[in-house]
Amino acid sequence: MSRSKTSKAWLRRHVTDPWVQKSQVDGYRSRAAYKLKQIEARDHLFRSGMVVVDLGAAPGGWSQVSAHAVGPKGRVIALDLLDMAPVPGVEFIRGDFGEETVLADLVERLQSRRVDLVLSDMAPNFSGIAGVDQARVSGLAELALDFAERFLADNGAFVVKVFHGVGFDDLLRRLRRTFVKVAIRKPDASRKESSETYIVAKGLRQRRLAAAEGNELGLESDQAPDEPTAPADSPLHVAVKEQEEP
Ligand SMILES: C[S@@+](CC[C@H](N)C(=O)[O-])C[C@H]1O[C@@H](n2cnc3c(N)ncnc32)[C@H](O)[C@@H]1O
Repeated sequence: MSRSKTSKAWLRRHVTDPWVQKSQVDGYRSRAAYKLKQIEARDHLFRSGMVVVDLGAAPGGWSQVSAHAVGPKGRVIALDLLDMAPVPGVEFIRGDFGEETVLADLVERLQSRRVDLVLSDMAPNFSGIAGVDQARVSGLAELALDFAERFLADNGAFVVKVFHGVGFDDLLRRLRRTFVKVAIRKPDASRKESSETYIVAKGLRQRRLAAAEGNELGLESDQAPDEPTAPADSPLHVAVKEQEEP
């Protein structure tokens, strides 16, 4: 198919997509917001007062959902390669998460506070070459997991976008070694034809850094956030289609 036909097909699918239409009505920056809301409905990740890191945040749907869920006592730090219009209650870092200086900026902003929830919806620009794309996707997921293993609170949680294919099983194995509970989610808002899926991991079993190294980073001991913010009738609680791990 020619490039213009592909873009026209994309545009047609975009404007007729019910989640795109809903996001415009509800004031969300992206249809992706509903993926996180649907994961939240099943997994109850958010608490008022939490510190959340949102990796691959632009245009900001997940950041909007996170800021609302953690409330004014919480903190959301969002990061993306692309610029993002300000979201109230969200600090934004523009940069490549793979670069040391960008990571250092994020760590400095944490001011020794451990993170309660690490979200990664990072996705590369797809080249169309399956092997290259898979390697990039796995690389981003591994980077996010490296960060989670170092900076999450003991009772913290991690959500990462992955694609079925090369590297998926290895990542899942590593997550199962690192976290107490690991589940695979395919929210309704994630296109059926896409191999995109999300892994939700809870309860850090082992840290990447030894305690001594954590202390060198000046990390505080874990702090318990407040009770859940989302009541049962909250818009956060919408149906989610799941594939529970055995
Ligand atoms: C699917 S979009 C995220 C959508 C977002 N969660 C939302 O709710 O609006 C994926 C994002 O990952 C970002 N990304 C990809 N590689 C990255 C990297 N190395 N560092 C930071 N962001 C990256 C892209 O720029 C893109 O904005």
